[in-house]
This record gives sequence, structure tokens and C-alpha cells, in this order.
Amino acid sequence: MKGSYDTFMRKEIFEQPESLTQTLRGRLVKKSTGPATSDGTGSGFTSVFPLNDLDMDDVPFEVQLGGLNERMSDIRRSNRVIFVACGTSYNSCLAARQTMEELAELPVSVELASDFLDRRCPIYRSDVCVFVSQSGETAETLDALHYARSHHALTVGIVNCVGSSISRLTDCGVHLNAGGEIGVASTKVYTSQVVVIIMMALLLSSDSRSKDARRAEILRGLAQLPSRVEATLAAVDEMMKTTAHKLKDQQSILLFGRGYQYATCLEAALKIKEVSYVHTEGIHAGELKHGPLALVDDKMPVVLFASCDATATRVHNALSQVAARGGLGRMIIVGCDGDAEVMRYKDSATLVLVPQVVDCLQCVLNIVPMQLLSYHLAVARNLNVDQPRNLAKSVTVQ
Ligand code: UD1
Ligand code: F6R
Repeated sequence: MKGSYDTFMRKEIFEQPESLTQTLRGRLVKKSTGPATSDGTGSGFTSVFPLNDLDMDDVPFEVQLGGLNERMSDIRRSNRVIFVACGTSYNSCLAARQTMEELAELPVSVELASDFLDRRCPIYRSDVCVFVSQSGETAETLDALHYARSHHALTVGIVNCVGSSISRLTDCGVHLNAGGEIGVASTKVYTSQVVVIIMMALLLSSDSRSKDARRAEILRGLAQLPSRVEATLAAVDEMMKTTAHKLKDQQSILLFGRGYQYATCLEAALKIKEVSYVHTEGIHAGELKHGPLALVDDKMPVVLFASCDATATRVHNALSQVAARGGLGRMIIVGCDGDAEVMRYKDSATLVLVPQVVDCLQCVLNIVPMQLLSYHLAVARNLNVDQPRNLAKSVTVQ
């Protein structure tokens, strides 16, 4: 039911504080000496989520994913991890890849299921193939799973629909627990997918003492995420409506980002094009000079993701290059609230400010204004938000 919302897409965007809470529930735990708990965390663990920011500093906590327990040592011993997915699910894998590489210290590749199948990608029994899907029924992802099984790889599912084909046919996996998603454009499932892949990375590194501080930082970020998403929704909704009205007659929008935000610009571009039918391109900011800069003039709307992380200097360099070709007037900069570098542009560009969270989770907050922008663009263009033309929620034939 849509309740007080006009569309399922808007409802699902606003449900994200709750869907993320459900994804995390029972999975952030602290080691305990007491008896087994009844909340799904198993013997020796007590759930510590949700808790308030104050408690978090006192509690050393860990990730527990019941669905991976039995196969964890096999996954740790594997030679590489290959993520396979389509569309938004593919973008979620890209968003979390860097964290998986950093924490698991394994080679990680991310494959479009259709391309993986076209190439008959070489797969070995020492590989772990992770299939990420909302529906668990997507034809290409399911075919890729059959292919990986026939090559004896260990198969893992990250799936929202319990009982779906991918959930049943994988050796093990994790349910997203994000709740049903009705709108064709995936929103709340994307953010839960990123969170689950990052939890899997945390689990893979839990034996590494040298990564304790980094893990603690990310765990704290995970526990803060639902409230930060809630704050983002409240802060940016009206602004995205105004921005959508300004952009509604544009033919094209370019979106630039790099590092953790490269996936954000791909996902934002996909969201906007599928519901508003405005042509969009998500482009790696490092590629600007290798072609895309030719598209930039004083009329082309540009969205730039400028987070405060290790790529900040390079992102600001890209910002200057775009600004030099037509000024800042038609630029939308998505940045962190309080970032002095970004605040410099407050009078010349449209600034979309979101709360700051640990670098690898910033993508979860940055996508929220873009989900809202695509929704408001579709409404402003009088389009069917929940059922865009030519698209289906579950793609079960290739
Ligand atoms: C499970 C229960 C949850 C219960 C909790 C408490 C289900 C669906 N989940 O959650 O209701 O509160 O235990 O003990 O009953 N799996 C796959 N492939 C996938 C996804 C999952 O094989 O793509 C398998 C997992 O390996 C696991 C099972 O499905 O064996 C359930 O996974 P998940 O729901 O993620 O496990 P828990 O979070 O432990
Ligand atoms: C876009 C969207 C699609 C799906 C893709 C894969 O908003 O929803 O790109 O992500 O069709 O679907 P699942 O995740 O069900 O495998």
C-alpha cells in the first residue's frame, strides 16, 4: 500500500531509514559470554543494533551474517571474488568493490551478468561468485549462476526476495530484508545491497587485527546510517523538487564522480533516465579529458559528487575544468555539509549538502538526493513514476 504517498517510488525512497534498519537488524553484534540470544545472532553474540551514537563508542562490535557462517572459511580461502548482477544491482557491487578489496585483500571483479555470459568468463573451483539481485529471478543473473555452478565455483546470493531462484540455488547467501519493492526503479534495495556487501567485507576481514580501527570506523558508520539517511531526506526533498523544475526541459544531464562516487554517478544516471526519460551519462571524473569534456558547455547541466575522501583534490580539479567551460551556474554539486572546499561554491553553483559519514558509506547518502531528483523530474514531466515505459520490475527473459 502506498499510504500517504503518491507513488511507490516516493514511498520506498522515504522508507530507507527503516529498510536499512531491517537490513542491519541482528547483524551488528557484540561478543558475549551469555547464552544464545533469540534474535538470530546465535550463541555467543548479542545484537547491538539499533543503538544510539553515544553507546557505540563504548561497545566493540562485529558483523554477524548467519547465512554465510558455514562457508566463511571457504570464502576467505578463495582466489578471487566475482560479483555478477544487472542494472542497479550491478551499480551496488561497484559502489562496494573498493571496500571489499581493501578489507578482504582478495582480487574483486564486478561483472554485468549479460557480458559475463557473452564472454564465457573463465571460472574455477577456487572462485567465489556472488550474485546480487532484488528479485532473485533476473534471467541473465540466474543463467550466470547456472554457469558458475557448472564450473564448481562457490556461489553466494545477495537477494531481497526470500525463496527466489537465486536465493534457493546459491550455496549460501544473505537476504537483504529491505521489504517488498514495488516501484520499477530500485531505490531502497540499492542502499541495502551496498550495506550487505560492505558487511560481507567486514566479516571477511574480521581476523585481521591490523584492520581493527578501520573496521570500527565502518561499523560505527553502519549503525549511524539510518538516522543520517533520515536527515538527508528531510534536508534535500524540497530542494530536489525545485531543481527538477529547473531541469525538466533539458535534453541531457552529465554526472561526474570518482572513487566511491563513481558508482553513485552511474546509479544516479540510471535512475534519472529510467523514470524521467532525460538522457543522462554517469562519467568517471578521471575520464573528462579523454572525451566527455567535449560535451561540456555553458548550457549542459552537470552534477558533480564532491565528497571529502582521498579523491577530493582530484574531484575539485575536475570541478575547475568543468567550471572553466561555461561557469558554475548550471552545476549541481553534491557534497558534505560543513566541507569548506564545497562551501566555496555556495553562491555560484547549486549545492546539495548531505551529512558526512565514513568515506565508503557516503555513497548511500549521496544517492538519496538523486533518487528524489529522478522522482521529481518524472512528476514534473507528467510521467508514470512507478511504471516507466518499456520496463518491467522483474526481467525473467533475456
Ligand atoms: C535467518 C532467517 C531469519 C531469522 C534468523 C534468525 C530466513 C529467510 N531468515 O536470517 O528470519 O530471524 O535466521 O536465526 O529464514 N541464502 C542463500 N542464498 C541467498 C540468500 C540466503 O543460500 O541468496 C541462505 C543463507 O545461506 C541462509 C538462509 O538462506 O542459510 C537464510 O539467509 P538469511 O535470511 O540472510 O539468514 P539470517 O540473517 O541468519
Ligand atoms: C533499475 C532497476 C534495474 C534492476 C535490474 C536487475 O532501477 O531496478 O536495473 O536493478 O533489472 O534486477 P534485479 O536486482 O531484480 O536482479
